[in-house]
Amino acid sequence: MKKIIALLGIAVLSISCGKKEKTVSATANVSPEELLVIEGKALFESNRAACASCHKPNQKIIGPSIKEIVKVYEEQNGDMIAFLKKKAKPIVDPEQYSVMETNFAILKTMTDRELESLVAYMYSEK
Ligand code: HEC
Repeated sequence: MKKIIALLGIAVLSISCGKKEKTVSATANVSPEELLVIEGKALFESNRAACASCHKPNQKIIGPSIKEIVKVYEEQNGDMIAFLKKKAKPIVDPEQYSVMETNFAILKTMTDRELESLVAYMYSEK
């Protein structure tokens, strides 16, 4: 019995090791910038952040499109990280700000890296 358990243990170990290698090799030729964009896209579209339920790349739904947001930020040299940290005023559609404001509860739980990844993803869609 002990032998079987030990064997099972080795099998599980090698399966999980195999998985790890796959992840590493899949991301090995991705630059740090690209990795940030990939992370940001996943987070943007996740249930946790839910940004994608109101923001689509090219089309206004509940919120302005990602393209529109980035365009305004580039034109006005805005600081999107500061906005997401609630340290800067809205510059895209201030009249609708109360709708966006509900998201700060979630944004407050995010690390700097996560906020940076969201911004990197949004700029990649411009
Ligand atoms: C319930 C719908 C909704 C969700 C979910 C949502 N937004 Fe928004 N967002 C809006 C609306 C509406 C606006 C336009 C008002 C404004 O400009 O503040 C907006 C505006 C913005 C702006 C531009 C702010 C500015 O300067 O005017 C950014 C950046 C943004 N959202 C990012 C995000 C991110 C990142 C998430 C996910 C964490 C998210 N939004 C989730 C509705 C939403």
